[in-house]
Amino acid sequence: MCGIFAYKGSKKNATELVIQGLKKLEYRGYDSWGVAYKTDSKINVYKEVGKIGSFDLQNAEGKIDFSLPCSLAVGHSRWATHGGVTVENAHPHLSSDNSIAIVHNGIIENYAELKKDLINKGYKFKSETDTEVIVHLIHDNIKLGLTDAVKKAIGYLHGRYAVLVISKDENILIAARRGSPLIVGSGEKEFFIASDIPAFLEYTRKVMYLDDNQMVVINDRPEFFDLETGKQIEKRIVEINWDAKEAEKGEFPHFMIKEIMEQKETISRAINQDEDKILKIAEAIKKAYGTYLIGCGTAGKVCLAGSYLFAKIAKRHVNSAFGSEFPSLQDFITDKSLMIAVSQSGETADTLEAIEVAKKKNAKVLSIINVEGSSMDRMSDYSINIKAGPEKAVASTKATTSQLAILTLLAYAVAGKLDEGKILLVEAASKINDMLNPRYEERIKTLAEKIMNHESMYVIGKGLNYPMALESAIKLQEVSYIHAEGFAGGELKHGPIALISKDTPCIAIVANDETKHEILGNAMEVKARGGYIIGVSPENNEIFDFWIKVPDAGNASPIVNIIPVQLLAYQLAVLRKNNPDMPRNLAKSVTVK
Ligand code: F6R
Repeated sequence: MCGIFAYKGSKKNATELVIQGLKKLEYRGYDSWGVAYKTDSKINVYKEVGKIGSFDLQNAEGKIDFSLPCSLAVGHSRWATHGGVTVENAHPHLSSDNSIAIVHNGIIENYAELKKDLINKGYKFKSETDTEVIVHLIHDNIKLGLTDAVKKAIGYLHGRYAVLVISKDENILIAARRGSPLIVGSGEKEFFIASDIPAFLEYTRKVMYLDDNQMVVINDRPEFFDLETGKQIEKRIVEINWDAKEAEKGEFPHFMIKEIMEQKETISRAINQDEDKILKIAEAIKKAYGTYLIGCGTAGKVCLAGSYLFAKIAKRHVNSAFGSEFPSLQDFITDKSLMIAVSQSGETADTLEAIEVAKKKNAKVLSIINVEGSSMDRMSDYSINIKAGPEKAVASTKATTSQLAILTLLAYAVAGKLDEGKILLVEAASKINDMLNPRYEERIKTLAEKIMNHESMYVIGKGLNYPMALESAIKLQEVSYIHAEGFAGGELKHGPIALISKDTPCIAIVANDETKHEILGNAMEVKARGGYIIGVSPENNEIFDFWIKVPDAGNASPIVNIIPVQLLAYQLAVLRKNNPDMPRNLAKSVTVK
């Protein structure tokens, strides 16, 4: 959450580069945005409420002065935590004498005490943010020089942060991190710092990861320090193999539909893994005394699906829990346990905290991530990259199905049937490729038109597809803003069926497996109360008022069945005039707790 982008280098249009970089990070927060840029010996700031995407660089006159050469600038796109969505609360924040500017992602837990102390010292606050304490703390120590003042200020902070600092008096860019991501991009006589790699991918693929409790000071070259020991550290340059074009919308109107369509290829990419590595991980799962699948939101639903996949395919009990709930389960963890963390970004704060808890107990950690070099990738004993390519729409689609594919593959590997698992998934990938055609999209659009004005809808599933009913509901909620809930079909009669009235849309995910007859029976119960049944199933049935055909994919059915619901959510968002890429109140990569 919150996008950060900074430039320091030989080019003279740093402000423009920062605005363009921020536009690529907008999915991380879109309540407000701002830039601070250094010209001669002055820090200039421009901020506004709303999305940076609509800011027109050609018509910036009177807002930002692009005529002055500028080689040092920082910018921020905000997802509000402390303080409402106002210009005052937008970042960057300035010291009272306008000499220092900072941007920040994270939450400073002890900001209230720090603020009280600073007010007693005479500092005046212009915003309601936790961030503003940092800039005043730096100013309070500025006699030490900017670098040491930042080190000193950071020492007072409790919580998670990624902070960038510039000042009018020194031509350096400083960044510090604990818990929120920051990556340094190294170009030809120029450096970038961003919350996510795609933001600077068009300029460089060479990156250096800033780790927790580290700081970087960029003058002509970056110098990294350990904030705990104060010692300088060497950083390895890592070459990223993402293509800049992968992070663009191309011919598609939205990232969400582009990413849904990419599922024609992403499953095959996901399962193309080093076999020895998969077998080694399968051994670790077999050996573990207690395995926990941990993720948040959609990744949490994938974890629940993982429990079902391991039970059915490998006859193994694997627990699953949300990252935010895991600390309450930690007493079960020992040095013989294994945690499998599932995360697209590899940066989700709740999942990271769960990993920290597991590591403290000396448990082993496997991460299933989409971002190589992400915090989770680096802190785990093993990682599997799902290779879905950059996912920019806030609502996860292609990463979800690739995560499911990896868990399915692992379950087969644990069962000693890796080849069988591969064949199943290769076939599923080819069926998805056939399914995602323009006629299919049109049919889903017809359904969206029928149900777009409903206030509530429900999704039911059973067995492997119960977690997909829950995931369907998340997808529908977050982009269509229609109240949607997912249930285990058998649970309806224990309460939720009271919510069904005439024409209430109810999606029944009906796999062609041992659950088929029961889930059809549950759909019938809904229909008998007037519900409008949308069947997601390989075969039509007289119970269905609307049938969405899906290929029969056996144990890969969760992967195949979620795709039409992703498309439905997208179509509903577009018809209801919502922006599917940037749903209200949300942001991608949830780096706050
Ligand atoms: C919903 C969605 C979120 C994420 C969750 C975890 O469509 O994308 O629920 O799944 O915030 O994010 P990652 O996978 O980055 O850990």
